[in-house]
Amino acid sequence: MSSTMRPFLKVAAVGCLGAGVYKTYPGRQTLLRLCAAHLRQMKKENPDKPLVWVDIGGGTGLNIEEMDKYFPIGDFDSVYLIDLCQPYVYFPA
Ligand SMILES: C[S@@+](CC[C@H](N)C(=O)[O-])C[C@H]1O[C@@H](n2cnc3c(N)ncnc32)[C@H](O)[C@@H]1O
Repeated sequence: MSSTMRPFLKVAAVGCLGAGVYKTYPGRQTLLRLCAAHLRQMKKENPDKPLVWVDIGGGTGLNIEEMDKYFPIGDFDSVYLIDLCQPYVYFPA
């Protein structure tokens, strides 16, 4: 992860940009809608196959969060987020 991107993602992760620039990447909602339609079709054609999403370069997990609007995340058998950077969001135990 580049040193330029790190502070940007950190700010996005804590919410300063979450509702603004970062969240409104041009095309994000269209992309997720198209993926959701494709996933529904895949599920229809192969109902017994597990549905696994590997979000490579998933950053703060915004795509996963937003995808839930179009395709319920609970309908995936597994979801993995892989990223080069260290986690910026910590969930207290
Ligand atoms: C511009 S951000 C996009 C984050 C997220 N996918 C989104 O749409 O909001 C790109 C992300 O890709 C990650 N990344 C870049 N190269 C990568 C690689 N080779 N393997 C895994 N993650 C990578 C960066 O760390 C960064 O979090």
